[in-house]
Amino acid sequence: MLERVLSLRSRNSQINEEGDEDDESKTRGKHVSFAMRATNYISKIGFLWPCLLFIFFLILADIFVHYRNIMCHSSSFSSSSRDSFYSRFNFFGIDDGLDSDFGLLGVPWCRSKYGKTVEWTSKDLLKGLEEFVPIYETRPIKNNMYGMGFDHSFGLWFISRWLKPDLMIESGAFKGHSTWVLRQANPDTPIVSLSPRHPEKYLKKGPAYVDGNCTYFAGKDFVDFGSVNWESVLKKHGVTDPNRVLIFFDDHQNELKRLKQALKAGFRHLVFEDNYDTGTGDHYSFRQICDQFYIRGGGHSCFKDGDEARLRKKRRKFWEKAVDIGELCGEGEVWWGVKGQMRDDFNHSNKAISFAEHFQNSRFVESVLDVYWELPPVAGPSLTHQTRYDPARVSSPIVEDGRFGFFQRIGLGKFETSVFNGYTQMVYLQVSK
Ligand SMILES: C[S@@+](CC[C@H](N)C(=O)[O-])C[C@H]1O[C@@H](n2cnc3c(N)ncnc32)[C@H](O)[C@@H]1O
Ligand SMILES: *[C@@H]1O[C@H](CO)[C@@H](O)[C@H](O)[C@H]1NC(C)=O
Ligand SMILES: *[C@@H]1O[C@H](CO)[C@@H](O)[C@H](O)[C@H]1NC(C)=O
Repeated sequence: MLERVLSLRSRNSQINEEGDEDDESKTRGKHVSFAMRATNYISKIGFLWPCLLFIFFLILADIFVHYRNIMCHSSSFSSSSRDSFYSRFNFFGIDDGLDSDFGLLGVPWCRSKYGKTVEWTSKDLLKGLEEFVPIYETRPIKNNMYGMGFDHSFGLWFISRWLKPDLMIESGAFKGHSTWVLRQANPDTPIVSLSPRHPEKYLKKGPAYVDGNCTYFAGKDFVDFGSVNWESVLKKHGVTDPNRVLIFFDDHQNELKRLKQALKAGFRHLVFEDNYDTGTGDHYSFRQICDQFYIRGGGHSCFKDGDEARLRKKRRKFWEKAVDIGELCGEGEVWWGVKGQMRDDFNHSNKAISFAEHFQNSRFVESVLDVYWELPPVAGPSLTHQTRYDPARVSSPIVEDGRFGFFQRIGLGKFETSVFNGYTQMVYLQVSK
């Protein structure tokens, strides 16, 4: 507890760029003066004081827990029930690594031009989830290692079903699981799939999915998304408005590159599967691009004895994909992208970029961004038992920790835990030039 209080204090002096952190010290000031007055009072009472002091400490501890939660709520990433659920554990000194210290550090978020957001609500997501569970059970590819798990399958299904596009395009098909997901979302909508290896190749070895109403640019017919003549492909499918097309990228290419290519073709609705956090992943992502000092929760400190270093070290122990400061920072304290690199094509290319370049990239993204929406994880880690991504670096889950009954009732409990291990902040973007 004390350690946490101290960490709050030192953070306070560090981050003040937005001004609103100041409220924090005011609140604490109130607690402290209340504490002093109370102590004075206790000293007057005499023999009762050991007992009262004990109760008083309990209350004080509780206030801090609450105050920590309030701070977490001011960022849009923490869930109230999750926080209170885990704070309760922490209150009793059980540090299970689930509490959201990062809720305090904050998590970067891409800013859209006019602050527009998606139409759907968390209620819609919950309803969709109930519907999707029985669909997911019928998936043809049960073992989709290296491909999508439950969270992103749900996200892609939900978004494409909501948007009801005239054409769905996917880049990166692997065995065809995502093609199948798109098909479940919209049974009568044509699909275009780009992938160097045709999914039918996988059929020889085991389960795969080949769609009857999909145009494959695969195998010897493979063309990279950036080289396709989209005008002619759209025409062939009778689509006149590129605004009515949904693009799904799961091809591990630099997302800035893909964004520019999509804009050039006039596409506006884009979903990116692997929106890796800073310091992780094999291609430059929007999460990375928007990780900037001027954005709340963005920017990093490579200072070895700093709060971030200490926090990361701690969280690294609990979550496989969490990175400590040594993994985050390269030589010369370069932290943006992955150690100052802009990665592309499954990390086959990794170009060092300057901070100025990285900064310009985020300004460019912001200049074309109408909506940025990260799919929340499907359920909290105490329910899914996922061990990979740090829950404090992501939005509040659709099914929050503690809702075990609901989790079971909608049938999520019957899946192998490995299907919940692949979450990487899938993102839906709406863009315009
Ligand atoms: C992670 S897998 C895709 C998983 C799949 N979406 C699923 O449903 O599980 C990445 C795929 O991208 C393919 N790929 C590699 N380079 C590509 C490119 N330039 N364009 C499209 N796909 C590419 C790979 O061959 C691989 O099949
Ligand atoms: C393709 O889509 C059309 C129109 O929805 C449908 O009539 C046809 O059965 C589909 N073909 C296959 C092989 O799924
Ligand atoms: C990415 O490529 C770089 C340079 O070739 C290499 O040092 C690094 O280990 C690679 N990372 C991963 C995760 O493959």
